[in-house]
Amino acid sequence: MELKVYQNKVKVAEEFSKYLIEKSGTQKAFHIALSGGSTPKIVFDVLAEEFANDVDWKNIHLYWGDERCVAPTDDESNYKMTVEHLISKVDIPEENIHRIKGEDDPKTEAKRYGELLEKELPKELDLPQFDLVILGMGDDGHTASIFPHEINLWVSPDNCEVAIHPESGQRRVSLTGRIINNAKTVAFLVTGESKAEKVKIIVDREEGYLDYPASHVAPKTKDLVWFLDAAAAKLLTSFQS
Ligand code: 6PG
Repeated sequence: MELKVYQNKVKVAEEFSKYLIEKSGTQKAFHIALSGGSTPKIVFDVLAEEFANDVDWKNIHLYWGDERCVAPTDDESNYKMTVEHLISKVDIPEENIHRIKGEDDPKTEAKRYGELLEKELPKELDLPQFDLVILGMGDDGHTASIFPHEINLWVSPDNCEVAIHPESGQRRVSLTGRIINNAKTVAFLVTGESKAEKVKIIVDREEGYLDYPASHVAPKTKDLVWFLDAAAAKLLTSFQS
């Protein structure tokens, strides 16, 4: 596990953009699962506005680690957020965008998306393998849409599951642990003071850390990196600023 801590969200966004450019390089097809929520917005803005010309977008294939079961035009939609902050600003072929159809029946879509991964991604150990999975982490230690109250979904034998948000009851389609941990690389993008407590528990493996889905992210390749701002990392003893 590698920790990369930067002073603020913009710096995280800039450094992650450089990291993505280096990682995707000239690979003919680079398959990325994106995180949702609010953290990626600034990352996508910086990537699109400052580094767009450094990425060969025709080689980039975008997927989502999770999607809310809403229409793609809904403000809750991770796809809509990504269109607004990234896709609308870069020259990525439409056929390279593989969205989760939040408007469809959740169970049907979880099955369809799981099958799409089997078809579109290269295999490693007989499982679909992303080149990069980008993850966020909720204040409650969830990641993708695997929440603590449904942590059993992490070990599902399926590629995708239907999850339920613990407060809103909103249904979501999420990748499961078998896909996330089969990725070549997993990068957490976590910023803000509200994440600091769980970052410490999970990164420092404090008592009860396994109660939080984010602590189960452990790619077989061991290529796991946390991009943090100082606020999210403030309780990590090794990073006292
Ligand atoms: C989602 C996400 C989710 C998110 C965390 C952090 O659909 O909301 O994929 O896992 O990454 O909840 O969200 P913030 O970036 O908004 O804090």
